[in-house]
Amino acid sequence: MNLMKEGCFITIEGTEGVGKSTNVEFIRQYLSDKGIDLRLTREPGGTPLAEEIRELLLQPREEVVSDDAEILLVFAARAQHINQVIIPSLQRGQWVLSDRFIDATFAYQGAGRGISWNRIQQLEQYVLGDLRPDLTFLLDLPVDIGMERAEKRGALDRFEQEKHDFFEKVRQGYHHRLRAEPERFALIDAAQSLDNVQQQIAAVLAEKLDVM
Ligand code: TMP
Repeated sequence: MNLMKEGCFITIEGTEGVGKSTNVEFIRQYLSDKGIDLRLTREPGGTPLAEEIRELLLQPREEVVSDDAEILLVFAARAQHINQVIIPSLQRGQWVLSDRFIDATFAYQGAGRGISWNRIQQLEQYVLGDLRPDLTFLLDLPVDIGMERAEKRGALDRFEQEKHDFFEKVRQGYHHRLRAEPERFALIDAAQSLDNVQQQIAAVLAEKLDVM
């Protein structure tokens, strides 16, 4: 696929309870103030079909969900999202901000569930082609603090019901991705005050706007 994209593709990642939603809203407002036409979206989800797959993935259920079924549902939703939303928006010159994307699969299904990175890279190649984020914010927080925050939000989804060890592996998975591609990532310490977090995010965005 010849991508020929004009807009900038930004993703935001992190374990449960790191404050993604608040900061997604901050990024949206910041870019809107700068006159950027932004498409805000999320994974799993972002289209009606992909949102239905999200429901299937997040719903707690008695049946054990096999790791392969889980990752293939994630990529099915992603294929729809990329083709219907991400690529058309970028080609129109919009910027795209996705609340989670491919790094979440390496972190959750790879590091968390234990699916080999080689296997995930094969699916990545198949479904993403040349598409990769231009910039990824990784909000980082000790697992215990994040889990406590997530629990306060109410009923836990199928992923949030996982135990501490699982999220520790997920967090390490994200750090592994960061070490492999440090130039793409902006690591944000989410344990700081919200003001500091947002100052850091704004500085990264200002630099990005400068070079675009
Ligand atoms: P969230 O949007 O509230 O963060 O919930 C999405 C959940 O889906 C979250 O627990 C992480 C999980 N997920 C994966 O396991 N793999 C993926 O590739 C993505 C995008 C999300």
